[in-house]
Amino acid sequence: MTQIAPSILAADFVNLERDIRRVSSADWLHVDVMDGAFVPNITIGVPVVASIRRCTPLPLDVHLMIEKPVRYIEAFAKAGADLLSVHLEADSPAGIAKALQVMEDCGVKKGVALRPITKAEAILPYLEELDLVLVMTVEPGFGGQSFLTEQLETIAQVRALIDRYHPGCRLEVDGGINPQTARQAVQAGADLLVAGSAVYGADDPSQAIAALRG
Ligand code: DX5
Ligand code: ZN
Repeated sequence: MTQIAPSILAADFVNLERDIRRVSSADWLHVDVMDGAFVPNITIGVPVVASIRRCTPLPLDVHLMIEKPVRYIEAFAKAGADLLSVHLEADSPAGIAKALQVMEDCGVKKGVALRPITKAEAILPYLEELDLVLVMTVEPGFGGQSFLTEQLETIAQVRALIDRYHPGCRLEVDGGINPQTARQAVQAGADLLVAGSAVYGADDPSQAIAALRG
């Protein structure tokens, strides 16, 4: 069954606790961390993740859109992240391998994320140790953008690699997800969908989550 991870980037930060409770029927809570360098936007840091941890039992799926993420893995793990994703474009292969090693040492689930420009095969050196591959279907940096249909091919290619080399790994899709693009992404092989605007822009977020599950 398709899992849903609402992105709190689309929540009202003044009422963050209320908005997190409004999505309690979800499977994960998606937290977008941006540093103003890897992407042209700055969002949430370690202390906010620690506060979120105290107000929800949902597992925290923390998407690190930051340069050289190895520097912050331990801090986000201690703050209560259940899964961390690092972008393959954010460091050298050695830096990514080190970040995954620190995740392992800290006992958090391990993910890698791909910008739209990055080819599916880029996951191969890491795939067998991953819990999740995150395929971006917008340029990372902002919520509310349109789904890049050409990324359906990357989703299908990542699905084929996962099925071949590490079937236990999840395939998460992030960006521009609504009930229609959710169907397309799932058909291409996604099993976990991030949704910001589609959930928080709805009158009833729990109904929106149900609609995305299909
Ligand atoms: C974009 C973020 C996404 C974003 C999704 O860089 O990684 O998680 O919040 O927002 P929507 O669902 O509005 O595209
Ligand atoms: Zn995200």
